[in-house]
Order: sequence, then C-alpha cells, then structure tokens
Amino acid sequence: MANTRMITPEELAAQRPFTARIHDYYAYLLTGRSPLAYVRTYGCQQNVSDSEKLKGMLAEMGFGFTETPDEADLILFNTCAVREHAEDRVFGNVGALKNLKRRKPHLMIVLCGCMVQQEHIAEKFYKSYPFVNLICGTHVLYRFPELLCGVIEEQKRKVAIPTEDGNIAEGIPVVRDGTFKAWLPIMNGCNNFCTYCIVPYVRGRERSRDPEAVLKEARGLVAQGYKEITLLGQNVNSYGKGEAHGVDFPELLRRINAIEGDFLIRFMTSHPKDATKELFDTIASCEKVSRHFHLPFQSGSNRILKEMNRRYTRESYLELIRYARSVVPDISFTSDVIVGFPGETREDFEETLSLIEEVGYVSLFTFIYSPREGTPAAVMPDPVSAEEKVAWFREMTALQETLSAKRTAAMVGKTMKALIETEAGAFLEARLPDNVIVRVEGDPSLIGRHAMVTVTEARSWILIGKIESVL
Ligand code: SAH
Ligand code: SF4
Ligand code: F3S
Repeated sequence: MANTRMITPEELAAQRPFTARIHDYYAYLLTGRSPLAYVRTYGCQQNVSDSEKLKGMLAEMGFGFTETPDEADLILFNTCAVREHAEDRVFGNVGALKNLKRRKPHLMIVLCGCMVQQEHIAEKFYKSYPFVNLICGTHVLYRFPELLCGVIEEQKRKVAIPTEDGNIAEGIPVVRDGTFKAWLPIMNGCNNFCTYCIVPYVRGRERSRDPEAVLKEARGLVAQGYKEITLLGQNVNSYGKGEAHGVDFPELLRRINAIEGDFLIRFMTSHPKDATKELFDTIASCEKVSRHFHLPFQSGSNRILKEMNRRYTRESYLELIRYARSVVPDISFTSDVIVGFPGETREDFEETLSLIEEVGYVSLFTFIYSPREGTPAAVMPDPVSAEEKVAWFREMTALQETLSAKRTAAMVGKTMKALIETEAGAFLEARLPDNVIVRVEGDPSLIGRHAMVTVTEARSWILIGKIESVL
C-alpha cells in the first residue's frame, strides 16, 4: 500500500500565524516598502513547481519578487542533487553571497530542495557557510513559514531536514511563473531506486495526489486560460498505485482530457517499465494529450540496464516504441541517456548508439555518469577514464545531431499547430507538437496563442517557419 499521509487543513492553517508574524516583522524592519525575495531554482520541473509554492508562501508574507540578488531582502536557492555539477554550481553561488550578506546584515539566506535534504551536504553548509540562515529539506516545504519565523524571532540559524516522508499537502498558495503554461504535480517521490540515482533518497517514497484535487486544479488552470498543462512526477505511470481511489494514470489522463477548453496536456517523466499499451491507446483516444513523449532509456545495453536496476530490456523498450507508433502514428520521442555508467564497455556504449539510431529521437538529454554518495552505483568499480567517457559522450551527441538534422529537414513544407511561447530578438519562438522550436515573424502580442505554422527552412540548430493563421 502507498504510505501517503495528507497534511490536514488544520496543520496547514497552523502555519498562518507564522506568515502573519513574518509580515509584521518586515513591515516594522523596512518601513514604507515591501520586502523583496530572489528565488533561484535548480534541477527539474518538480523543483520549479516547488518553487512556485515557496513563492506563493512568500507572497502571503508580503514579499514581492526581484531578479536581482543585490536588491533582495531574502535569497532562496531551491537546489538539485542529481549530478555533481548541479551541486558544485550551488556551492559556488551560495559562497558568492558572503559579501552581499556582509553589506546587508538583515539579508535572509535560505537553502531548500533535494541537495540539502542530504545530511552530509546540510552539515557542510551549516559548518562552512555561517551566513546561511535556514536549511530546509524537501519534506517540510509546507512548514516553511514556521521555520522562517523561528529563524527571525529566535535569531538563530536552523536546519530542518527530517527524513519523515509520504506527506502530500493540498492548499499551499502558488505563484506561477508562466501565464499560459502551467506545472501540475500529480505525485511526489520515487520507489524505483535506479542504482545511479539520488532522487529516491532525497524525495522519499512515491505518493500520489488525490485525483479530485488534481482535476480541480486542472479545471482552475483551464478557466484561467492556461494553454498547456504539464503533469509532473518522477514516474507518472505509477500514479495512483496502492491508493484506494483506484484511478491510474491513463484514467487520470482521460478525466483531464474531458475538461472542456482549448489546452494541451503534457506529462513527465515516464518510466518504460510502467508505460503500458493502455497508456498509448489512451493517448490515441485523447485529442488534448500531446503527441510528444519523453521516455528515458538510459542505456541500450541489457547488461547495463540490469546493473542500473531499470527493470526493462532493450527489446521490451523497442517493442513499446513500436506499439506506440502503431497506435499513435504521429508520436515523437525524446529521451535521457547516461554515458559511462560504472563498468560500461565500448560494446555496451555501441548498443546505446544503435538504439538511438533505431528509435530516431527528436532530441536527447545526454549525461555523463556522476557518482552520488549513498547510491549503489557509487561503489561499483569504474575502470573507464574520464577522458574516454567524454569522447564517448561527444560521439553520441554528434550522432544525435546528425539524426536531428535529417529529421528537421524532412519537416520543411509541413504545416502544424504550434504554441507561440517567447520573443527571441526580432522573432518569436513557437513550439511544435513534437517539442521542436520554430522561429517565426510576428507581433509579441501573439505570445500564449496557438497558431498554424508552416516550416519553411531547417537550419542546423533551428527551424524557420511562417504563421499561416492564429487560432
Ligand atoms: N524520474 C526521471 C528523471 C530523473 S533525473 C526518470 O526516471 O527518468 C533526470 C535524468 O538525470 C535521468 O533520467 C538520468 O538520465 C539522469 N541522471 C540521474 N542520476 C544521474 C547520475 N548519477 N549521473 C548522471 N545522470 C544522472
Ligand atoms: Fe531516479 Fe530511476 Fe526514480 Fe527516475 S525512476 S527518479 S532515474 S530512481
Ligand atoms: Fe534534481 Fe531533485 Fe529534480 S535531485 S532532478 S531537483 S527531484
């Protein structure tokens, strides 16, 4: 059974007095102006979504937001632990705040998220970065007002990284970054324990939100005019597993698809071992579900997949892709791949290359294996040199570039529905159904609208297109 524990409305309401006290503290401290917060998010969309909640809580405390750390009264880093590089960036960026804090003693520095949920990291920050005021792990997000209030009123640094997990809190306020694209978390945590991955240790066990709460939020987003809703979870395909409500991921998709309105449903991430034929049948029958599918394969070698504890084979993965294409002919795939997993040989790596060729991805997120303390892979023998891994990595990205270029060249002349997302210099950028960006000419007032776009040219990195009609 799932171990989900709902944070009760009373528990959430108990945070309100702390919010009010922080509000009063800043009103007294900064007479005549509102406090400003600078929030920086590292890592995946789950963290982006958590930051939207942290911002929601900060807004209730009276904070406005700034993009300039120098202007801020509070700086919050929401951190990621997935690779060493991500952690190094945080160490560097937090270190750089030392001088700012010296100039501005009331500056509050807060670290949240996956990286600081690890005890050895929290300890390092606490000991070596005395200007950090609050270190707050992933499981106590909803208690942020209480923790911050404690730091302010007791004038004491605090670390709160309890290992208790399994909680889901409904009703935390949200300040969304986007006005037409929204993140909607449907579950938290992960039970898969891929041997290279830190996420299950820092995010806790898998638990799903109640389908009614998800649907209510989705309806609200559609009513507010959001054009794209991305359902989030480390493994969305195991949504609802072990919960009494009996709604699984395909059923959730069908229910969201039934909401009236012009919007697109995306989701990530899917684990191949849990992506079923029913899921692809559901996509085929749900017109609002995106035809772009992110399906990480990590390695093309069965031996490495086993060492990674991924629990599927190259053959079953390829069979899934074949089935998906048979029921959703216009489906496109992206994926995540790791190069240089401990013990990977040249032969294993070549199997990864051949899988990439066989599937034909729109694009790939490619990573060099990074040992994570506390995971099983971190203590596996790893004889291949860093130089060799980098060479393999380059070989792989070069292959993908060639394949992507061929694919985009074949798109010239096609007309597709695209969402106009941003301004890029004198142009606009729109996202095609398969997640590829196309540059078009048009007025910035079109941002957030759907349009029919014809691809006119494929350059090495970008597609050029023309708006035929705005929808
Ligand atoms: N839950 C998702 C994504 C998790 S993290 C999934 O299962 O696919 C995103 C990606 O980071 C992973 O897919 C993997 O490719 C990569 N990754 C995770 N741990 C890593 C590590 N230790 N070294 C290198 N890449 C890693
Ligand atoms: Fe990490 Fe694997 Fe869970 Fe994804 S499924 S978060 S890679 S343990
Ligand atoms: Fe990073 Fe945590 Fe996401 S480790 S990738 S921010 S779940």
